[in-house]
Amino acid sequence: MIDVFYHTSVSMSELSDDNAQLVIGSPPFTNHPDGKSLEKKSYLRFIRSVFSEIWRVLEPGRLWVCINTDLRDHARYNRRDGRFNGLLWQKHTSLRYIAESIGFRCIDMKIWAKSLNPNVYRYGFAYVQFFKKSAGSRTQTRTGVSATFSPDVWLLEGGTYRKDSRGYVFRDAFHPEIVSRCLEQFTNAGDLVVSPFAGSGTVPAVAKLLGRRCIAYEIDRNLKPLIEETIANPERYPAFLSLMKMKS
Ligand SMILES: C[S@@+](CC[C@H](N)C(=O)[O-])C[C@H]1O[C@@H](n2cnc3c(N)ncnc32)[C@H](O)[C@@H]1O
Repeated sequence: MIDVFYHTSVSMSELSDDNAQLVIGSPPFTNHPDGKSLEKKSYLRFIRSVFSEIWRVLEPGRLWVCINTDLRDHARYNRRDGRFNGLLWQKHTSLRYIAESIGFRCIDMKIWAKSLNPNVYRYGFAYVQFFKKSAGSRTQTRTGVSATFSPDVWLLEGGTYRKDSRGYVFRDAFHPEIVSRCLEQFTNAGDLVVSPFAGSGTVPAVAKLLGRRCIAYEIDRNLKPLIEETIANPERYPAFLSLMKMKS
């Protein structure tokens, strides 16, 4: 069962409490409909609402895997609270603070190196943060860890570019290997995986390949054809093709 709903993940009304075995996603750059401007204070309020909803739907003891790239800071992002250091916004730290204030525990972190080529304008790596809906116990993330999962830096180049048959281009996708590593490490066949920010549909497509159930949310209806094509024909994209070869 793979279902995609085209509305905000602030309310995942199709899901009951404590029901999902894994949530995995990459929050958008902004909460503005234009997708271009960012105002940190309202953005962080939006993140808090979605993270609280993720807490509600996740089974206790399970993980919310959150993938983020830090940003160059700008005065215009900080209009409402005036706090601005002019250099770097460690977005992953702000998101961790919100997650922990809701009750999650950050139990581990990995670096996804998207490229080894230095880029002055854009970060070439992202943080993969593991937030546990914890009843208090510490997690043994370092035991029973599969070989592909265990390195702390995952060098996975390419795989972020998707184009649908209409020519619509999406440049901000996960490498599918990130999703497959997390699904294999933290879920079993038939488990329910939630994708709160579907984007191009990487999570539902990998879930389908690995025999997991998936419910995904995407606010932008323009992405519907791309999501449907990614789920139906992942082999259109080289990064999926190598994943499919490995699994066959
Ligand atoms: C960084 S992209 C996710 C990319 C995805 N991981 C992939 O592999 O394609 C974030 C997505 O979240 C979507 N989004 C933004 N606000 C949302 C909301 N309130 N509810 C659901 N999706 C939202 C954006 O339209 C965008 O497609």
